[in-house]
Amino acid sequence: MNNENLNWHFVQDSDGIEDEDIIRFDLDDKTFCIYKLQDGFYATDGICTHEAVHLEDGLVMDDEIECPMHQGIFNIKSGKALSPPACDDLKTYPVKVEDNKIYIQIS
Ligand code: FES
Repeated sequence: MNNENLNWHFVQDSDGIEDEDIIRFDLDDKTFCIYKLQDGFYATDGICTHEAVHLEDGLVMDDEIECPMHQGIFNIKSGKALSPPACDDLKTYPVKVEDNKIYIQIS
């Protein structure tokens, strides 16, 4: 197994997940959000960059996530902060689906 394989972490089965769903994934002391968009799965850090609020309860609109606390908006694919009060970008992570299983790559 090479290093790249070691960094993929199983999240959950992809069955039953619909567009605009958000999956929370916790690993050690970190937390992430995985989003199902029309063209596939994407992942970002789970905590808003404005304050310590989890984005799992946020609202997905097209390719954007709106924070549930102050309605800051981020682009899910790039992590870019699009709307104040959020001004720092979210980190993004690769996601893949193999045999109906979702994996996130965290290095
Ligand atoms: S906590 Fe997310 S915009 Fe304020």
